[in-house]
Amino acid sequence: MTIQDPRPDSLPRRVWESVQRDELPPQTDQGRMKLVMNNLVLHIHPSKVAKPTLKFTYTWGLGGLAILLMMILAVTGVMLMFVYTPTPDSAYNDMLALKTEVWFGQLIRNLHHWSGNLMIVVAFLHMLRVFYTGGFRPPREFTWVLGIVLLLLVVAANFTGYLLPWDQLAYWAVTVGTSLLDYVPLIGPAISRLILGGPEVGAPTLTNFFGLHVAIIPLTMMGIISFHIWRVRKDTLSIPRNLDDAPLTRVEKVTTVPHLVSIEFVFALVMVALILLWSAWIDAPLEEAANPDHSPNPAKAAWYFMGLQELLLHFHPVFGAIVVPGLALASLAILPYLRFDLDAEGIWFRSRKGRQTAKLGALVGLIATPTLVLLPDRPARTATQPANHYQQQLGTAGGPVADADSLLQAGATHLWRVGVRSPAERVHAAGSGVHSADGDRRGLSRREHGADVALGGALAWTAHSSHRFRGAGSSSWPGARQGWRSWVRPAG
Ligand code: HEM
Repeated sequence: MTIQDPRPDSLPRRVWESVQRDELPPQTDQGRMKLVMNNLVLHIHPSKVAKPTLKFTYTWGLGGLAILLMMILAVTGVMLMFVYTPTPDSAYNDMLALKTEVWFGQLIRNLHHWSGNLMIVVAFLHMLRVFYTGGFRPPREFTWVLGIVLLLLVVAANFTGYLLPWDQLAYWAVTVGTSLLDYVPLIGPAISRLILGGPEVGAPTLTNFFGLHVAIIPLTMMGIISFHIWRVRKDTLSIPRNLDDAPLTRVEKVTTVPHLVSIEFVFALVMVALILLWSAWIDAPLEEAANPDHSPNPAKAAWYFMGLQELLLHFHPVFGAIVVPGLALASLAILPYLRFDLDAEGIWFRSRKGRQTAKLGALVGLIATPTLVLLPDRPARTATQPANHYQQQLGTAGGPVADADSLLQAGATHLWRVGVRSPAERVHAAGSGVHSADGDRRGLSRREHGADVALGGALAWTAHSSHRFRGAGSSSWPGARQGWRSWVRPAG
């Protein structure tokens, strides 16, 4: 008995149907739903969606935009890997080569750089959107928690990428950024050493950051993004409602093709065009080649860590670098597990009072943040914070100290007693003068700032071998960091 081959007579048609099984374009709703179910990419959507969720101003397309950015980053990142070698000798020259020798090299680098930065902004705005529309409430608690992990990974991906050009900006931003780890009690210094591949930023750090940036972080992100979207698909998107609408009983549904897919397609095209334009216009920054012996003054963290850096100026480092961010993250993670009025889901700002509060919060934030950043640091605070701790240290190292004045003296005496043993230490000793001048600019008296740095350096030197502090002489940040290091890890 022979079985008749049911496929079409034409060979090209048979080939096409082996790839695309469903009719294109589909003519019926059933066909449209089948198209979504049988397509690998479209399958991230359900075959039908609630009509109100199509309203653009509900989600602002932010989750989808994060996925688009992830795609652009993957494609441009793989292209950059054809040119880039992660060693201190080649990394910076490869960046120059992208500009001068490789066709469209600078454009590809710009696309990668700006998409990475935009991803932080987009993921954060997406979190705000979910927060203000109550999209984190049951059953979407875990989707929210996965989102927080994604936000951290987006920052980690940017941070590890920051070092790769191996220019001054990269070197010192990563030096400043990784030094925050030292404030983590007990395990911090060990983690810092593991990530840096040694005591300070160097060739092993570049290898480590490269591995994390091109393999470990992106693969983890792709896994968690898939999980995140799968959860959104299973729980459905929260359904938007106006403040005065009655609670939802029945919601009209429409097929995903073409209603949702067409909006996504147009939005993606517009965004790609804008990102391309921006990247064609504005180059990713590149400064002088990294120089471990000379830091820009002051060394700045990457923009997404500047808040943390600013906190460190005002508070004790354990509080600024560990307690505040730790509490913020823990509160975000616990948020969806608190008890809520579930009826408010899908309503922007929940109530009129909520809207007022959000507006007030945004206004206060927009005014207070720049004001606090621009205001000179209050001398009393910045000087006494370190003073207290150096004083404690001196309790064992050189005797008690009463105030900033005697602190300066004690610091100088200590320095003198310990002796300047290496060129790096000489640089640092001279650096405390520079710091005093910098302290003036920041509203500290010369004495207070000089005391801070001189004593910090002295304690650090007694605690550690001098090679660790190579090049940390001329910037206030690494200088202060050394002082803190010695406080976190006491001598001996
Ligand atoms: C790489 C980063 C991220 C990607 C690619 C991503 C992707 C998405 C997508 C495509 C959606 C559905 C459409 C939309 O709401 O725009 C969504 C929804 C959601 N996302 Fe994200 N997301 C990311 C980060 C986050 C973050 C940082 C949070 C919060 C901490 C979060 C929490 C949620 C929640 C709770 C939903 C469901 C919202 C609802 O039903 O209204 N996501 N995400």
